[in-house]
Amino acid sequence: MPADGRARAILFDLDGVITDTADLHYRSWQRLADELGLPFDRAINEHLRGLSRPKSLRIVLADRWEDFAESERAALLERKNRYYLDSVAAMSPADAFGGIPELLGDLRAADVRLAVASSSRNARVVLERLQLLARFDAIADGNDVEHSKPDPAVFLCAARRVEVPPSRCLVIEDAASGIEAARAARMKVVGVGPPERVARADARVERAEDLRADTLLRLLAKARQAE
Ligand code: BG6
Ligand code: MG
Repeated sequence: MPADGRARAILFDLDGVITDTADLHYRSWQRLADELGLPFDRAINEHLRGLSRPKSLRIVLADRWEDFAESERAALLERKNRYYLDSVAAMSPADAFGGIPELLGDLRAADVRLAVASSSRNARVVLERLQLLARFDAIADGNDVEHSKPDPAVFLCAARRVEVPPSRCLVIEDAASGIEAARAARMKVVGVGPPERVARADARVERAEDLRADTLLRLLAKARQAE
């Protein structure tokens, strides 16, 4: 990628922003919790949004954490991932949220660099199923960083890969942990979801389908003015 002092980038979270894998993650955790006889529901699942698989397991096991040996916990992580990957295998390009492929095209036409910055270790396989992998200049995911959101590492990694400074990056996120990560990376962030979840974002849309290139480009321009 050419070094360019004026380059700008948009860093997309994946699960819950590009596609509804947030729900597939929820169903996989629910199945595991049911099998273990653990209390779990959508309200508990909200706390897992954006967190890595190991961090999520800690919340799912809660006060049963000590009942499981390290090797058993590793097996549970693998089991949850098997359930998740089974559902990912059934995904197709039709599973991208409405308007996302067009949005990526509009942003590309406006010369914006595009990256995915996700806590997931399965980001590439999901993007392949959606046939969107080639639409991004860079992918940074759970395989690239030691600390997951709310740590800023994955956003900083994505910014480095597209060779754009944080002040010229705009993040799109559906998770409270991801919004904190973007803020810690000193990037502007658009929240996708209800106000109670994304209140700390700089701007908000209710659903990914509501994202518009012209609005995102305006926010990017504002971020640059504030540099
Ligand atoms: C995040 C999701 O993007 O990735 C979390 O919001 C998920 O729900 C996390 O736990 C890790 O994903 P994976 O695919 O590595 O289990
Ligand atoms: Mg997400």
